[in-house]
Amino acid sequence: MAKRCEVEIVGKPVQELVLNPENLPKNYTYDEGGAGFRDALVPSQDENIPVVDIHRLSSPSTAQQELAKLHHALHSWGCFQVINHGMESSFLNKVREIGKQFFHLPKEEKKKCAREPNNVEGYGNDIVYSQKHRLDWTDRVYLKVLPEDQRNFKFWPQNPNDFRSTVLQYTESLRLLTEVILKAMAKSLNLEEDSFLNECGERAAMFLRFNYYPPCPMPDHVLGLRPHADGSTITFLLQDKQVEGLQVLKDDQWFKVPIIPDALVINVGDQIEILSNGIFWSPVHRAVIDAEKERLTVAMFCTPDSEKEIKPVDKLVNESRPVLYRPVKNYPEIYNQYYQQGIRPIEASKI
Ligand code: OGA
Ligand code: NI
Repeated sequence: MAKRCEVEIVGKPVQELVLNPENLPKNYTYDEGGAGFRDALVPSQDENIPVVDIHRLSSPSTAQQELAKLHHALHSWGCFQVINHGMESSFLNKVREIGKQFFHLPKEEKKKCAREPNNVEGYGNDIVYSQKHRLDWTDRVYLKVLPEDQRNFKFWPQNPNDFRSTVLQYTESLRLLTEVILKAMAKSLNLEEDSFLNECGERAAMFLRFNYYPPCPMPDHVLGLRPHADGSTITFLLQDKQVEGLQVLKDDQWFKVPIIPDALVINVGDQIEILSNGIFWSPVHRAVIDAEKERLTVAMFCTPDSEKEIKPVDKLVNESRPVLYRPVKNYPEIYNQYYQQGIRPIEASKI
């Protein structure tokens, strides 16, 4: 697909729009059927988003049960919450805190790591190519954190002064956790445990994104993040501790993803959907806004080495389950082009 060559229209950070609530720009608001973004269903006790326990996954007497739970989660919801992942509550608070501290800085200070036009990395808001596009009510800091030699430190905030060290520590924790999760996913499909890890390569990448959602006077008519599925292999989401907002689409209905203290939400991204030949699927999700409270979440997107070709694993292709996806390479690139046009990028890979 040809590269887009439009000129980006640079808009104000959402945080500044809030200062003028009587006059919200039209391209943030949904008029039609907009009411009720916030009243999604709460999953029932019986069919809740599964909670996977890493301790149980690692001990022989409970591992099989936990793997079965994981398999079910990824086949039915495309996501789960993970507990006992080894990160302390105080550390997760710290990760949220550095994000909030950054967004609370004066704008001149934040602009020191502003992203550049047509580039996602750094501090900024939605990339806009056309005034017709509906925009997300969110400001972000987006950083490539792995591989190490691809870090662009000019986009990494220096304020608060423990921002960088905290991000580095969080990256290392999630790098290790990614290995545990990808191995478990492969095992739950009766594959060799390294199957998915090998496909991702030694130079797999990780992108960290702080999503800051200022409160909005019209919460039923704006979205923090419009419906999308992630282009990652898997995504880790550290939710805000108090303010809900994440919703996931299942059987054509929106469900709230409950806040569990210290759990991380993990969802399948398009590239695991492809690797698993559609057995695991990449769920459509969105974020809604609160009328009074700010919300901060931290997303970590894992993605394979950009040189690796990603296609369904051989063992998951057979007569009763023919190959469903074409090979893709450097998927985040394809993803960004489609996303801007409002098309689900995985459609490009479906046979
Ligand atoms: C994302 C995402 C949800 C949230 O960053 O891709 O889906 O609640 N975030 O912030
Ligand atoms: Ni997402």
